[in-house]
Amino acid sequence: MAAQDGLAANRALWDHLAEIHGTDPGDRSYDVQAFLAGGETLRGIERELAGDVAGRDLLHLQCHFGMDTLNWARLGARVTGVDFSSKAIARARTLAEQAGLAAEFVEADTQCLPDALAGQFDLVVATYGVLSWIGDLGAWMGGAATALRPGGRLVLVDLHPLFQTVLTFDPLVADWPYGGGAPQHDAMTGTYAHAEAFSEPRKSTQYPYSVGDIVTAAASAGLIVERLGEHTETETDGRHILPQGPDGLYRFPFSDTYLPILYSLTAALPPAPDGHPRDPGGAVGHDAAGQTPRGDRQQ
Ligand SMILES: C[S@@+](CC[C@H](N)C(=O)[O-])C[C@H]1O[C@@H](n2cnc3c(N)ncnc32)[C@H](O)[C@@H]1O
Repeated sequence: MAAQDGLAANRALWDHLAEIHGTDPGDRSYDVQAFLAGGETLRGIERELAGDVAGRDLLHLQCHFGMDTLNWARLGARVTGVDFSSKAIARARTLAEQAGLAAEFVEADTQCLPDALAGQFDLVVATYGVLSWIGDLGAWMGGAATALRPGGRLVLVDLHPLFQTVLTFDPLVADWPYGGGAPQHDAMTGTYAHAEAFSEPRKSTQYPYSVGDIVTAAASAGLIVERLGEHTETETDGRHILPQGPDGLYRFPFSDTYLPILYSLTAALPPAPDGHPRDPGGAVGHDAAGQTPRGDRQQ
């Protein structure tokens, strides 16, 4: 079945990465010691879009080894992290103990979330390196919508599909489809966090989705799209291909302007007929900084 093409190999790949990410002093993305010392791991976009999470039930999809999930817990949310990697879930539970933070971690495929999660959350959050791993976008969006309470909101921040088409910036080479969801088979040697994550090239399967594919999937899942942001600046470039400006930010120059690097989508499950209030959340401007593109199509 096309949607499950590569799922087992992808899970094995992420099991390996869950054991090495954040363990090497040279890690380019995860600083576990800084997190344990109280450091912030979330970026400005998701913080602003989620708004005040204190007292909220928050589901973090594709949580990896849980550092961001636990950061939401530090901000006062009751958190549940989901990932299909058993190694990631085991490590996330250990990290929660080390950090002294309460959190639930559930091993599951985000394309078929457990029934027990249905209708339990005020917020569903997924960030940086999410949908390119998903063969069945409709199932993913349906699961996110089903997990929400009436009036609850999805906050999704990920690499922009246009940026994902690009292999190199200089020279400018684009070699990936813009959307459509057809499985793309690749061989990986390194990741956004660890340049030499694999001793030999590892097979991965990823899926390109356009902005239209993503917004349409959200609408088809019964979500009301509130805002779609396209972000042209970022504090770090997880793909390590963009030029860094004198202000320290990374941009994708194009003609006299910049192409988007990230997108952010906020969408709500309609309130219940009795008028259950919608979570007001926050808003982020077009050029919001503070975001970190991790998880790219070649992880
Ligand atoms: C790039 S990482 C996400 C990074 C994450 N935002 C963080 O805070 O570290 C992608 C994650 O998606 C997970 N994943 C990939 N496909 C999945 C699936 N079908 N179901 C659940 N988790 C999946 C991987 O195990 C991995 O932890």
